[in-house]
Amino acid sequence: MHDEQLVVIGTGIRTIGQMTTESIAWIKKADKVVYIVSDPIAENLIKTLNPEGAESMYQLYAENKQRIDTYNEMIEKVLGYVREGKRVCFAAYGHPGVFAYPTHESVRRAKAEGFKARMLPGVSAEDCLFADMNIDPAMSGCQSYEATDFLINGRMIDPSSHVILWQIGVLGDATFKKVAYDTKGWPQLLQKLFQYYSPYHVAYVYEAPLFPGVEPVIRPTSLIMLPYSGVSAISTLYIPPGQPPRPDYATAYSLGLMQYPGAAHQQPAQQPQPNGHQPIAPPPAPPAPQQTTSDSQE
Ligand SMILES: C[S@@+](CC[C@H](N)C(=O)[O-])C[C@H]1O[C@@H](n2cnc3c(N)ncnc32)[C@H](O)[C@@H]1O
Repeated sequence: MHDEQLVVIGTGIRTIGQMTTESIAWIKKADKVVYIVSDPIAENLIKTLNPEGAESMYQLYAENKQRIDTYNEMIEKVLGYVREGKRVCFAAYGHPGVFAYPTHESVRRAKAEGFKARMLPGVSAEDCLFADMNIDPAMSGCQSYEATDFLINGRMIDPSSHVILWQIGVLGDATFKKVAYDTKGWPQLLQKLFQYYSPYHVAYVYEAPLFPGVEPVIRPTSLIMLPYSGVSAISTLYIPPGQPPRPDYATAYSLGLMQYPGAAHQQPAQQPQPNGHQPIAPPPAPPAPQQTTSDSQE
């Protein structure tokens, strides 16, 4: 334990308050802390915790350069230090394993080369969204897609569930841009979303605050107005359910989670549905079975 040669940690979205004590300990302990973080406070904290070993990898990005090339260079840098025998901490913002390729790939390759490596969890943008928007993925389920992947890989939506689209602000652009991404995929994305939702269905552009005391951005927009809703590279799109759930009454009955009419007090607790959707009323049930005296109930 604690003899890892590579540890990948997350700084959280709001580093002050969301970086775990475990992650802080690894930053202090490492010979080398290579990092990709998105705000000056996070960078400053890493440099304070490990002044000798801290090294930003931000300079590997370049305007119009394919992001995958930058990621591969990051992985090589991380692995290079590991191969030199240094104890390396790779710090990325948010959760280091959520919508993050170079972090996972560094762990995979380090292990494949015989090094001891692990990843620690962090607080992701989605975690912040659940908290700030008061959404519990247990209610309705939740589908989470990278926006471009959703578009080009035939992903499907269950419109009765919560849907989260990541990287909506870099839709269709595989390169790095310092300011404005070329989000040329809007028409195709809208066409696909309209297969599931009305063009006037309201979604929310969400941006978690990076600093304590700052309010999140939660901007409603109808889907048809999405291209004009001011998304940025840190925006995540939340689409609330557009339909009520479709209960499988036969299975619910078979599991004893729902009783036939006449035993109304044993109906499953009706969970509140988001956005005012009412659960569908159950269909007429078959006649209640004859009860014997031994199993009869009041
Ligand atoms: C490469 S992913 C990194 C995600 C990060 N590893 C995490 O755990 O949240 C970048 C995407 O994360 C989401 N994201 C990053 N920062 C965010 C923020 N402050 N608020 C909302 N979403 C954010 C956006 O969808 C953005 O395009």
